[in-house]
Amino acid sequence: MNPRDLIQKGAPMTLQTMPRQMKPQPSALAYVPFLSVDRMMQLVRDTGVEPFLRGLAEAIEQDFLRWPEFDKTPRVASHSPDGVIELMPTADKALYGFKYVNGHPANMARGFQTVTAFGVLASVDTGYPLLLSEMTLLTALRTAATSALMATRLMPQGAQVMAMIGNGAQCEFQALAFRAICGITDLRLYDIDPRATEKARTNLTAQGFRITCCPSAAEAVQGAQIITTCTADKRNATVLSDNMVGQGVHINAIGGDCPGKTELAQAILHRADIFVEYPEQTRIEGEIQQLAPDHPVTELWQVLRGTAPGRRDAAQITLFDSVGFAIEDFSALRYLHGLIAQTAYAQPLDLLADPDDPRDLFGMLIRSGQG
Ligand SMILES: NC(=O)c1ccc[n+]([C@@H]2O[C@H](COP(=O)([O-])OP(=O)(O)OC[C@H]3O[C@@H](n4cnc5c(N)ncnc54)[C@H](O)[C@@H]3O)[C@@H](O)[C@H]2O)c1
Repeated sequence: MNPRDLIQKGAPMTLQTMPRQMKPQPSALAYVPFLSVDRMMQLVRDTGVEPFLRGLAEAIEQDFLRWPEFDKTPRVASHSPDGVIELMPTADKALYGFKYVNGHPANMARGFQTVTAFGVLASVDTGYPLLLSEMTLLTALRTAATSALMATRLMPQGAQVMAMIGNGAQCEFQALAFRAICGITDLRLYDIDPRATEKARTNLTAQGFRITCCPSAAEAVQGAQIITTCTADKRNATVLSDNMVGQGVHINAIGGDCPGKTELAQAILHRADIFVEYPEQTRIEGEIQQLAPDHPVTELWQVLRGTAPGRRDAAQITLFDSVGFAIEDFSALRYLHGLIAQTAYAQPLDLLADPDDPRDLFGMLIRSGQG
């Protein structure tokens, strides 16, 4: 029955029958801006994928340049036989950020994604969230922006050709970031599943890349100055063996990001100069879990600051052993927060209980049920 009919018939009015405009509305403090997947897609399309990636890379670089200002910890992982769920917190003096993210390589065969995520940016002053956002798309974008940003200091001069081993969800984002930020024009694709390569070929040809689909990883790396490995497999795989990696290449290894989940033959690690985000986390999760705990690595924030060298010569093999660090997600949320300020992209979400008297949370609950 229509609530208005009930009121006209003199029936007692309850919250359920009360007309919407008469119900007590949450206060302004109860609402947190929420960026849904739909609004995120709209925002990225409106901004343009490549300008968005460049903006993200700038935000990540700004935060890496002030690395010592952040609270840092390896992410908190909860492992299960088929996957991992991770929480990734960090904070500076003003803002706190965290991301919830999963990694389930067996998901794709079940029709689920390997990686999904959402995250929060909050005020350190009050602890109140400032933004709740989808982060599945944002993770793909920030991972690609980070890879390309780091490659500007590590790739050989004039690189134009990139091999991409693993053509799943992250693949196109990586390709676009490497074009927008590093000038890559040609891609050599390989995936154990030809349907993945075909999907990437279709998407990336439409974006104007020159594409070569290859029948093996060994053929994909031929003539490539940059090799991106972006596979999902919950084991110590050998996506690249030692003989595939020639002098002077830059390897952007993003798929090995969990204990027992790596992509590169150990011998490659001994020939490469290894660059990492946060050693405390990478030694647990990255390719270097295969090495001694004191194997020398270079921290990328120092390279960006100019206090440690990036690529030194044309023959050197450089390796970005990417696992994804909380500061990159913080930067992404901070960038997003700035981008959508004064716009209508975010929707208000009634997320925080906000009693009139801050101590009377219970009273708010009880009064909410009274007519
Ligand atoms: N470093 C980071 O910051 C970061 C961020 C996001 C995702 N990741 C990791 O990147 C990887 C890829 O993620 P995704 O979302 O694209 O996964 P996805 O499941 O969508 O795609 C992975 C692809 O790898 C292919 N593959 C598996 N084994 C292979 C092999 N031996 N050789 C060639 N191809 C192979 C699969 O067929 C699939 O197409 C995952 O391992 C994920 O955990 C890392």
